[in-house]
Amino acid sequence: MTETPAGSSSGRPRLTRLSRSVAGRRVLVTGAGSGIGRATAHLFADEGAMVAVTDVDGDRAEAVVAEIVAVGGAATAWELDVADGAAVDRVVSEATEAMGGLDVLVNNAGIPAGAAIDDPAYAESWGRALDVMLTGMTRTIRAAMEHLRASEAGRIVNVSSTEGVGGSPSSSPYTAAKHGVVGLTRALAVELGESGITVNAVGPGPIETGMTAAIPDEAKRKFARRRVPVRRYAEPEEVAHGILHLALPASSYVTGHLLMVDGGMTVKNN
Ligand code: NAI
Repeated sequence: MTETPAGSSSGRPRLTRLSRSVAGRRVLVTGAGSGIGRATAHLFADEGAMVAVTDVDGDRAEAVVAEIVAVGGAATAWELDVADGAAVDRVVSEATEAMGGLDVLVNNAGIPAGAAIDDPAYAESWGRALDVMLTGMTRTIRAAMEHLRASEAGRIVNVSSTEGVGGSPSSSPYTAAKHGVVGLTRALAVELGESGITVNAVGPGPIETGMTAAIPDEAKRKFARRRVPVRRYAEPEEVAHGILHLALPASSYVTGHLLMVDGGMTVKNN
């Protein structure tokens, strides 16, 4: 009788050595000065990654880096407007050089963009929503491609929304952008499958961030009771954990996936 490793009946080792850690990985997050992006930067840094904290508001990016460094993490701050193609090319290149490479790109930057279809401001809202939340992702991805190809486990995680699978009144610019994020994610997952770079998205439900700060607490409670099985808004860190999972080297066979982080909102019927 031949001996097999413990727990194996096939002669294979019980588990492979795929890394379940982001320690030492080089990560760039857009819109990381607040909310979900900030929590993501913190979580990756806590887990030992090097993080390029980018945001259109450079002061916010600096503040997040100061928080991370204060608790022993490694991060650098960059002012970056994802609507500015030249700035995207420059910052992605400089941040990558500063970190010695790039393994993970988190496309998180977003803005509230609502308008009724017959609102005079509709065209402006539509243009801005698509530019920041969809075209912006193609800019950062294109700028990052050569660096991600050089990584041994390149990962792209795009932030969509429950609006990426459904819709709300007066939100069609935002909803179209977030549906577009899902399409972009799926098509690139297929296109890049062979390269080893995975492309996934997260779909947050209602989250306590800058974007939802103006909604009165009572309205939030009412909405959550009615629509969310978990019955509350989430903390941004709960979305960051979904992003971290998709970015792990060990998540190498997950690509083209939309991971809802919505407290069950999109599967609730009654
Ligand atoms: P937030 O307002 O707290 O943070 C967004 C960050 O993006 C801010 O720091 C802002 O300065 C930055 N930003 C805005 N425009 C930018 C640009 N052109 N270039 C670079 N950075 C820019 O909001 P939150 O909620 O953390 O948003 C993060 C992502 O999560 C967005 O894509 C949003 O659409 C998405 N999301 C949020 C939900 C929520 O309930 N808060 C639900 C579903 C999705």
